[in-house]
Amino acid sequence: MTVMITGGAGFVGSHICVELIHAGRKVVVYDNFCNSHPEVINRIRRITGTAPEVVRGDVRDVEALISALSAHGCSAVIHLAGLKSVADSVSKSTEYYDCNVVGTLRLAQAMQQTGVRNIVFSSSATVYGEPDMLPLREDHKLAPFSPYGRTKMQAEELLSDIAQSQSPLNVVILRYFNPVGSHESGLIGEDPNGIPNNLMPYISRVAIGRLPVLNVYGNDYPTPDGTGIRDYVHVADLAAGHVAALDCADKQRVLKVNLGTGRGTSVLELVDAYAGACGKTIPITFAPRRAGDIASYYASAELAANVLGWHAKRGIAEMCRDAWNWQRKNPNGYLDQ
Ligand code: WQD
Repeated sequence: MTVMITGGAGFVGSHICVELIHAGRKVVVYDNFCNSHPEVINRIRRITGTAPEVVRGDVRDVEALISALSAHGCSAVIHLAGLKSVADSVSKSTEYYDCNVVGTLRLAQAMQQTGVRNIVFSSSATVYGEPDMLPLREDHKLAPFSPYGRTKMQAEELLSDIAQSQSPLNVVILRYFNPVGSHESGLIGEDPNGIPNNLMPYISRVAIGRLPVLNVYGNDYPTPDGTGIRDYVHVADLAAGHVAALDCADKQRVLKVNLGTGRGTSVLELVDAYAGACGKTIPITFAPRRAGDIASYYASAELAANVLGWHAKRGIAEMCRDAWNWQRKNPNGYLDQ
C-alpha cells in the first residue's frame, strides 16, 4: 500500500522517500514546493530507479488531501509539511500557526474522511524547551519557548486527542534532534533558501566558499569548550527511523519517541570534524550568543531502541563526510542541475 509523505520533497522528506522505496513501499509526495525544489524528485529517481508519485498541494487544502489519499490508495501518512525556522516563527507567528497547526488538523480531517488511520508526525526536540536534566527523555516536561516550538507541541496535542476520538488515528510522534548530512550519493541534501540558520549547512557554505566565515554564537556556555552542544543525527538514520515508526503505527494509539543519537557534540567539535572531512580550514569568529539558544541538549535514545528497534548507526565523521559530499557536488544546491 502507498505511503503519503507531506513535505516529501524537502530535506528530511526526500531521504524518507529513498528509504521507503528501497524498503519496497510505494510513495506519493504531497508538497507545495514552497521550501523545496522539483529537481529533488528527479534525484530520488536517479538514486532508487523509481520516481515517487507527486501531488503539488497545500496541507491546508482538505479537498486536495482527500483526493490524493483516495486516488493513490494510501494506507499511511508521514507528515513533514510545515515551517521550521525558530527565528522566522517570531515575526511570522500567524503563518506558523496556520501552516503547522491548522495544516495538521486539516490533514487529520482528510485522513478521517478517507479511513487512512496511521500517521507518523515530524515533531521536534524544541518542544522540550530548557532541559531540567539530560539526556532528554520523552516524559520530560514540554515547555517550548518559541512560536515554532509551540506549534509543534500543539500539533502533537491535537493528534493525541484525535487518537482517542470516535474516528481515531494511530499516531507516532517523532521528536527530531538535529538532522544533518545527506544521502551517500550526494544527489540529495540540505539546501536552505538564503543564508542558512542552522550550523551544518552554514559550515558547508563556508567550506565551499559561498560564505566567508562561520560566526560561533557564544563561547561562554557552561560546556567543556564553551560552545553549544547538540545531538546531531544523520538524516539517513532519521529516515530509517520513520520506516521503523510506520511498522509500529498500529500497535498503540499514541507513541512519542525521540530520534537522536544520545550523544552531544559542540560547535567547535563539529567544525573540527568538518575540517577533517573536507580537508579545509573552516574560518570562525566568536559572536554573542544567539537569542533563544540553549547551552546543551541531547536525546535519550532508549525508547527508540526498545519500541522501534531503531538506533542511529552513523557518527559525526560520516555526517560531515556526507554533508561535504553533497555540497561539493552541488555548490549551488539544486540550482546546479
Ligand atoms: C546548533 C548550534 C548554535 C548557526 C534548530 C531548531 C530546531 C531544529 C534544528 C527544526 C547552536 C550554533 C548555529 C551558526 C552557530 N529545527 N550555531 N553558528 O538551534 O539546535 O535547532 O534547528 O526542528 O527546532 O531550533 O540548531 O544548527 O541552528 O544550532 O554557532 O551560524 O550551532 O548557537 O549552539 P538548533 P542550529
